[in-house]
Amino acid sequence: MTLLAFETSCDETSAAVVRKGRVLASVVSSQIRVHAEYGGVVPELAAREHLRNLMPVTQAALREAKVRPEQLEAVAATQGPGLPSALMVGFKAAQAMAFVLRKPFLGIHHHKAHLYSPWIVDDPPRADFESFQPNIALIVSGGHTMLVFVEAELKHRTLGSTLDDAAGECFDKVGKLIGLAYPAGPEIDRLAEQGNAAAFDFPRPMLNEPNDDFSFSGLKTSVKYFLRDRPELLRDDQRLRDLCASVQAAIVEVLVAKTIRAAKRLGVNCITASGGVTCNRALRLDLAAACQREGFKLRLAEKSLCTDNAAMIGILAERKLARREGLISLDAEVEPGWVLG
Ligand code: KG4
Ligand code: ZN
Repeated sequence: MTLLAFETSCDETSAAVVRKGRVLASVVSSQIRVHAEYGGVVPELAAREHLRNLMPVTQAALREAKVRPEQLEAVAATQGPGLPSALMVGFKAAQAMAFVLRKPFLGIHHHKAHLYSPWIVDDPPRADFESFQPNIALIVSGGHTMLVFVEAELKHRTLGSTLDDAAGECFDKVGKLIGLAYPAGPEIDRLAEQGNAAAFDFPRPMLNEPNDDFSFSGLKTSVKYFLRDRPELLRDDQRLRDLCASVQAAIVEVLVAKTIRAAKRLGVNCITASGGVTCNRALRLDLAAACQREGFKLRLAEKSLCTDNAAMIGILAERKLARREGLISLDAEVEPGWVLG
């Protein structure tokens, strides 16, 4: 089976070719520079950029995979959740392609694809579902922060999610307060490396609440008031690094503690993580240390697969197709508010 997949739910235009669990090519064009000027993703601009980039990205993926369109046996695209106009670009193009090629078309749930991306390993990447274990999956990015119980392959239940800002959004908003460009997560990560995480004590929102939900907007607000009272801190490079490290520590501690607690409660042996914030070095290290201490197997998505990409869409689509699941009609619509059940 050779399948072409598209991902355009937010600000990454991506196309991938997969065959028998192997990623033959995955091309991602990031729009970060386009949106940085505005301090966040502008939906209308995102859609326009997807329109501009989709064909070159698709051609590059097919060329790299050495696959001609007529060799494709199925086409898949992210159906939701995401920005409506952005989703539509990849989804409608995929439907048109499936129509012309007379091949099956699959609509994929973006978060479900994140759930299985930690099972994509090696270089060139391939799906390693042979070692699949029931797990607690942390999906943590600019748009989502959630804990999911993955009971079996393609069977899962959402345990909790953020009540307000996502963890990545918190990184980005704190970055904005200290004058960093969007998206600020990677830069805070870098600055935090040389900072003292114990320098300032920020709240650990919902750390001790008996549920699997998160909330990060209060943390952002406390940084805002903290800086209002100490504006001079912004001019001191070392104190700024300390601030980044301290905020990062608060976010990471909540994510790690609640993930471990859910895994213990549900009696699984495995924890996985994916989404842009999973690139964060402190999160990767602390999650690994906690899993080692508590006896959990940890599977972190490869950094290139943490952020949005069509490879994870294609791998899941192929898996679903093998079970004749996920097939939808060529006049189906995008589902911008699709919730993970
Ligand atoms: O998954 P993603 O590319 O897009 C979605 O939001 O779906 O995630 C982007 C988010 C941004 O908020 C960005 O600041 C954050 O992930 N991020 C990081 C790091 N790399 C990306 N946050 C903290 N540390 C990082 N190293
Ligand atoms: Zn995502």
